[in-house]
Amino acid sequence: MTTELITGIAELTTQQHEPGAGGPNRLRDAALLIGDDGRIAWIGPAHRAPAADTRTDVAGRAVLPGWVDSHTHLIFAGDRSAEFESRLAGRPYAAGGIQTTVTATRAATAEQLEAGGRRLRAEAEVQGTTFVETKTGYGLDVATELRSARAAAGVADLVSYLGAHVVPVGVDRRDYLDLVTGPMLDAVRPFVQFVDVFCETGAFDVDESREVLAAGRAAGLGLRVHGNQLGESGGVALAVDLGASSVDHCNHLSAADVDALAASSTVATLLPACDLSTRQPFAPARRLLDAGAAIALATNCNPGSSYTTSMPFCIATAVLQMGLTVEEAVWAATRGAALALRGGARTGDRPDPVADGVGQVVVGGRADLQVLDAPSVAHLAYRPGVPLVSAVWRHGVRRR
Ligand code: NIG
Repeated sequence: MTTELITGIAELTTQQHEPGAGGPNRLRDAALLIGDDGRIAWIGPAHRAPAADTRTDVAGRAVLPGWVDSHTHLIFAGDRSAEFESRLAGRPYAAGGIQTTVTATRAATAEQLEAGGRRLRAEAEVQGTTFVETKTGYGLDVATELRSARAAAGVADLVSYLGAHVVPVGVDRRDYLDLVTGPMLDAVRPFVQFVDVFCETGAFDVDESREVLAAGRAAGLGLRVHGNQLGESGGVALAVDLGASSVDHCNHLSAADVDALAASSTVATLLPACDLSTRQPFAPARRLLDAGAAIALATNCNPGSSYTTSMPFCIATAVLQMGLTVEEAVWAATRGAALALRGGARTGDRPDPVADGVGQVVVGGRADLQVLDAPSVAHLAYRPGVPLVSAVWRHGVRRR
């Protein structure tokens, strides 16, 4: 690799300072150097830029970290557009639709599952996403969960094991819990960093969810929870109690849930595209931030409740509909999302995103960058729906 100097940066979003801590996260008239190791080697004012092997002039555009999509379900087969259309006609979203995707996923080969995931990851990259978490959860038997975990490890940076998505049709609940916390966990363990559980009516109750998470923790995995999506399921309180890295959805929160999140290090991961597609009330982003809780924004790309890979769409929605400022939304989709991915098992060469500078532009951190065809990140909400991402680097390598 060679060194590359990026010049002409009208606005460089670094995410080096916690929001509200007073430090500048947006630098004007900046330049940055990508080292020959794919990491950021220097950041500073344009007039002090060092020499480099190559130079790229972004001509007055905004540069920021690539998006960190911390909640996706990219490993699946099949299509649920008919279910989506029936929702538009008034049928409520429920966990039961997952079984449709399970049937199609069980019929797919490992190659088909991985190719589908790669296609979606490529679609996300065009829109600025450079770091992705994805999950199993549409197999729900040992062979298909294992196939899904392998495919996920080939597609995403970090993988969560979601054998506890729903109890598959025709299987005894107790038998299934024993499978998820025993042989299925053992099978997927080499490929995953986190254990996840859908704690919701129609999926798993709080005691069952606790059992699944305890088994994952005993196997050395970090914890994540799908909680409080369709009602006050107790998932948020459970996630905080167990010190989970993240609790995702958070549409229906009591005052106690908000306070508990604010007093914890568990990140509330909010999924605006899912809220729109399932016609749930938006997660109370403003209340969470005002209380002092940490939030992340993610796409939740999956065929049932949120079939989009677009982080810019999620950011625009969070700003225009959920009361976030542009800076808060961009933080939640970069550094906030990296924080939501802390604490996973250290499997092979899988990075710890926070130690690796993911979601930030920081000297020594990974050069995961995007350029907007605009002078400022404000354009992400000011020009919603417009494809603004004009260049992407991942690990210092130009991808587009
Ligand atoms: O995060 N909520 C649970 N799981 C997915 C959706 C699954 C599906 O409907 O296929 C989600 O929304």
